[in-house]
Amino acid sequence: MSFPVQVIETLPDQHLWVLETRTTAYAFSWNQHHRLENVYWGAKLACPADYAPKALGFDPLGNWNFARNTREEFPTWGDYKFNEPCLKVRYSDGVRACLLDYADSTTAGNDTEATLTIHLQDPHYPLRVRLIYKVFVDHDLIVRSAEIENTGDDPVEIEQILSAAWHLPQRDSYQLTTLSGKWGGEFQIQRADLPQGKQLVERRRGSTGYDSNPFFALDDGTAGETRGDVWFGALAFSGNYKLVIERDAFEQVYVTGGIHDFDFCWRLEAGEVFRTPEFVAGFTNQGYGEASRLLHAYETAQVVPRVSARQARPVVYNSWYVTEFDVSFENQERAAELAAKIGVELFVMDDGWFGQRNSDRAGLGDWYVNPEKFPNGLAPLIRRVNELGMEFGIWVEPEMVNPDSDLYRAHPEWVYHFPNRPRSLGRNQYVLNVSRPDVQQFILNFMNDLLSNNNIKFIKWDMNRHFSEPGWPDAPEGRDREIWVRHTRGVYEILRQLREKYPQVLFESCSGGGGRVDLGVMPYVEQFWMSDNTDPYDDLFIQEGFSLAYAPLTRMMWVTDTNGINGRSYSLDFRFHLAMMGVLGMGADLTRWSQADLSRAAELIALYKDIRETMQFGAFYRLRSPRESALSAFQFIHPSGREAVVIIFLSQSRFGYFSTPVHLQGLDPNARYVAEGWDEPWSGQALMKRGLPVALKGSFVSQLIRLSRV
Ligand code: DGJ
Repeated sequence: MSFPVQVIETLPDQHLWVLETRTTAYAFSWNQHHRLENVYWGAKLACPADYAPKALGFDPLGNWNFARNTREEFPTWGDYKFNEPCLKVRYSDGVRACLLDYADSTTAGNDTEATLTIHLQDPHYPLRVRLIYKVFVDHDLIVRSAEIENTGDDPVEIEQILSAAWHLPQRDSYQLTTLSGKWGGEFQIQRADLPQGKQLVERRRGSTGYDSNPFFALDDGTAGETRGDVWFGALAFSGNYKLVIERDAFEQVYVTGGIHDFDFCWRLEAGEVFRTPEFVAGFTNQGYGEASRLLHAYETAQVVPRVSARQARPVVYNSWYVTEFDVSFENQERAAELAAKIGVELFVMDDGWFGQRNSDRAGLGDWYVNPEKFPNGLAPLIRRVNELGMEFGIWVEPEMVNPDSDLYRAHPEWVYHFPNRPRSLGRNQYVLNVSRPDVQQFILNFMNDLLSNNNIKFIKWDMNRHFSEPGWPDAPEGRDREIWVRHTRGVYEILRQLREKYPQVLFESCSGGGGRVDLGVMPYVEQFWMSDNTDPYDDLFIQEGFSLAYAPLTRMMWVTDTNGINGRSYSLDFRFHLAMMGVLGMGADLTRWSQADLSRAAELIALYKDIRETMQFGAFYRLRSPRESALSAFQFIHPSGREAVVIIFLSQSRFGYFSTPVHLQGLDPNARYVAEGWDEPWSGQALMKRGLPVALKGSFVSQLIRLSRV
């Protein structure tokens, strides 16, 4: 393998950079028009010269050429072009046009991971920009970000700064895939023809959210799960973001994305550097399934917290749906005893244990143990949970405060607000201004108290409302609109410090369900709570969408009792099979379960522990989508290839309609595989080409097939 970044001098004043991964290439040049323009993104070509810009014999636009958007790698706003800029600034003399010249480029790294930095400089003003390209050869991904440095004496206002612009090759048409949704219905796959104009995937409510997710995929309309060219990417940021997917009048298609410019302004003082979030993207010619697997592998190998990256995630029990705010030593102990009996490894007490938190109307912000509920503090419960052989975890919502709390009474100025305007409530709470250093310190202090005084091994970090009235009246001058970034960075920094101090503690990101699932927070948390909706049929769709961008290793879901959402009931196996497709949790009232159900649960948890390396660290395949028929199927292959697990769900059978065989994927065609109850092994080729016959009938029935390579 050669060094993945090649710098080719095409002419004395022109350069071509070629970034090659295992199967893809990405090339851009500094050209005779003095622009840094993309020339290629797609499958790797045989010969480096093939990447060079190719001039057409004539320009089909003739005189109109000037109106065309260029394929700039990092378009600034300030001259005769009209596409979405990555950078818009205002210099201290009022000039709002930014131009960047190429200065230099540097490379570092090795054959599998390399970084290219392009240094740009405003020809007149003391402003430097560095475009950073990290090339992950084996993951087939490129991770882009930018840094902007004020090298002068006067402040510069940044009005818009996106992480990257990604240019796609010209095709006759494109289809755009995004994730949309709602509370209780996150990660719904949306697919539509890309019309001319701009499509916006955005969030302006302070956090990632469930109505959209910072992920995109584009194909020419012919790609499927196992075939076709797909370009895809995900932004690593948990605050306001925007992805602009534009198809212009001349069939140029590009995706620009980063921190949202809405209500944003950043004052870059002399000598300061602003770094954008990373934006990871890739290309595959093997369809959506492979696009997801590339992201999953990258997340598992590069993004999830390093200390626990290879650690199997424990089976969790969480008491929220059983006790809600009414927690006590007695009811938690009862739940813990039953959970331990069936094999749970980590017992989590959710909301309700602190302050005057008897409902969602009071107590948030008062992080002392409620003395009526736990007269002797948390220690007796934690001791009991540990005696039962489980670790103990606890819920917090550090970024929030109820107006009915001691914290708010003492510090009403700590929440986002505007003078002379009412403060809107969401779930009876306000958002603490985590941009403020004193608020960050407050959160660090109470979290330190909690973690250093108690044997806590897991934190569920929740966040349950949108931002409104995002004012910071006593902000340092000119910095009040920086809250959209400072808040998110504040949360990351708190998590970073806590993780450094308590490396043995696992964290879960929750935001009223799957409202904070993204690559920005992923380096600080082991897992995401996928949805408050634990209805298994609904979750089939939610988890399918989740899996488009995020690894099963990061997906937490519980087996619960029938929830009120759809009024449906399911067999225990169906509920377990769904929850097993990632990190398994339980959230049911076990005191009401029959002995038979408890025994079956114990068997299924034991099975899960046996296969969890495959479910958590294996390669994931969407064999059949619940969006297409009543039968859906998913497959996991152990990293070593020694085991594959297939889970099939049938929502309902109809007389006379037979389920067709399920074709497995990713197996070794020449290897032979066996499963329990089979007389003969099957070859990988037969399992993939002939497919597994499905023998399921009824409503909401499922089957787990565990294949071992002989
Ligand atoms: C919202 C979360 O999604 C739930 O799991 C639960 O933790 C509640 N918050 C507690 O208030």
